[in-house]
Amino acid sequence: MRRSIVSSLLASLTFGSAIPSGGKKHHGIEPDDFVYVDGLRLKDSNGLHYLTGLNYWACMNLAADDSQGGNITRLKIELDQMAAKGVNHLRIMAASEGAPTPQPFRMNPALLEAPGKYNEKIFEGLDRCLDEMSKRSMRATMTLGNEWQWSGGFAQFVSWAENNEPIPYPSSWNLSAPPQRETPRTGWGSYTVEGINAAPYNEFTSFANLIYDNMQAEEWFKDHIKVVMNRRNTVNGRIYNDDPTIMTWELANEPQAANPLGYTGPYNMYLIPNPNDMLFPWVERISTYIRSMAPKQLITVGMESKQGEYYFKKVHNFSTVDYATTHCWVQNWAIYDMYDSSEGNLRQAEDFARAFVRNSSQWSLDIGKPLFLEEFGMARDNWENRNKEYPYLSSASTSHKDAYFETIIGAAMDEFKNGGAYVGTCPWAYGGVWRPETQYINDFGMVWAGDPPHESPGWYDLYDTDEAMNILSRQQKNIAAWIKENKDY
Ligand SMILES: *[C@@H]1O[C@H](CO)[C@@H](O)[C@H](O)[C@H]1NC(C)=O
Ligand SMILES: *[C@@H]1O[C@H](CO)[C@@H](O)[C@H](O)[C@H]1NC(C)=O
Ligand SMILES: *[C@@H]1O[C@H](CO)[C@@H](O)[C@H](O)[C@H]1NC(C)=O
Ligand SMILES: *[C@@H]1O[C@H](CO)[C@@H](O)[C@H](O)[C@H]1NC(C)=O
Repeated sequence: MRRSIVSSLLASLTFGSAIPSGGKKHHGIEPDDFVYVDGLRLKDSNGLHYLTGLNYWACMNLAADDSQGGNITRLKIELDQMAAKGVNHLRIMAASEGAPTPQPFRMNPALLEAPGKYNEKIFEGLDRCLDEMSKRSMRATMTLGNEWQWSGGFAQFVSWAENNEPIPYPSSWNLSAPPQRETPRTGWGSYTVEGINAAPYNEFTSFANLIYDNMQAEEWFKDHIKVVMNRRNTVNGRIYNDDPTIMTWELANEPQAANPLGYTGPYNMYLIPNPNDMLFPWVERISTYIRSMAPKQLITVGMESKQGEYYFKKVHNFSTVDYATTHCWVQNWAIYDMYDSSEGNLRQAEDFARAFVRNSSQWSLDIGKPLFLEEFGMARDNWENRNKEYPYLSSASTSHKDAYFETIIGAAMDEFKNGGAYVGTCPWAYGGVWRPETQYINDFGMVWAGDPPHESPGWYDLYDTDEAMNILSRQQKNIAAWIKENKDY
């Protein structure tokens, strides 16, 4: 749409802050405008702060220079796309671990190549990522560790501490495995255990969870936390722990219980409580350590909270944990089937999500802390891809996904408006301009889809042209209008 100069001028007089030359947007986040917790709510200098988030874990790699496989053009296009939809929060990685031995299925190049040894160019990518986010008034969750193999994570620290002991890997997505397309380096690949020290998932998590009890691994993990929190941003000069762009330090992505007494659901869901689980003192030690260096920023753990009420409350009740989190994964937890087009399949997913949101909101109310739904996703209508060359083609429609997103995002907004604990949602994960059909594996073995390197690319991606992005945009507008009407709330 073209607008006349006169109407643009009028608009700039009326809505000054939306025009880049004038108001707040241009300057980005002010140096002292930290997000803080007030009872069950997050606030900033404008009052209530609701999180319209997206997972964008690869930000530091995309923002690194092209000698490291980055693409700053793509980064800026995608940040602009997300900002245009009202996204005000990105959950990103502030850690990734490589190894002296070649390791598959993970972000490459890594930020931390070996204990104490950084790839400065990837760190500069993280600097640029934060600076570009700040310009667009987007805040960050900085994820400091990972239970899973796709960034190195716990298992890599344990391996380092144990003389590079081989990591027992679960079956993961191998881009070079059959079936291969005609053009080299364009996929597809499959889940394989070829070429790795293969093990079942529980063996992998047991290995990763040794970090809770391995003092050398913990020391190196804490060293990383210290370095990243005290870093001076080479683009804008801000010290990370004094930069309000960073809303939150998150201990790790999806830390798991170490000593469960049993599972009462699939996929390690609903644990029989074990008060002596080593996860608990680990959360207390690490969050206390972070607090000592981040008095102005928030801390959360990064739990899925699938483990049930006891674990939820125990993990999030420490005074050094500012708010709680949930992740909701209906397909991974065997509640939804991406090949089943039936209404019943969708309804089952929606019912689960509503109950999960309602239950967790109550648990969080009980301990008096805000709650952020920081991961959820659904595949496209992949029954349409069943007899095609790849099960995750972007050409499939998104009827179930859109309905599901409306439901789960709506459930969290309803909790927010009605005194529940939820303060925002953050779907998984932004793939932006990337598509499986046009993917190209770079010199570092990466395609940078929304799906991380151990999973099939295109499974949970949100693309720039997806209806889901309009759902996020409507969420943001709906909440902004509600906050305006309920200023005294
Ligand atoms: C970087 O991203 C832009 C925008 O998506 C794309 O046109 C370009 O081909 C990418 N460059 C590389 C080296 O992949
Ligand atoms: C991946 O697949 C290729 C091709 O089949 C194979 O050579 C390699 O060992 C596999 N595993 C890894 C970790 O690359
Ligand atoms: C949470 O901590 C408070 C204060 O230490 C304590 O009174 C309360 O019992 C704890 N709640 C749970 C569920 O652990
Ligand atoms: C929610 O809580 C109820 C009551 O404890 C329980 O029966 C139900 O399974 C829970 N649902 C989910 C999805 O957590």
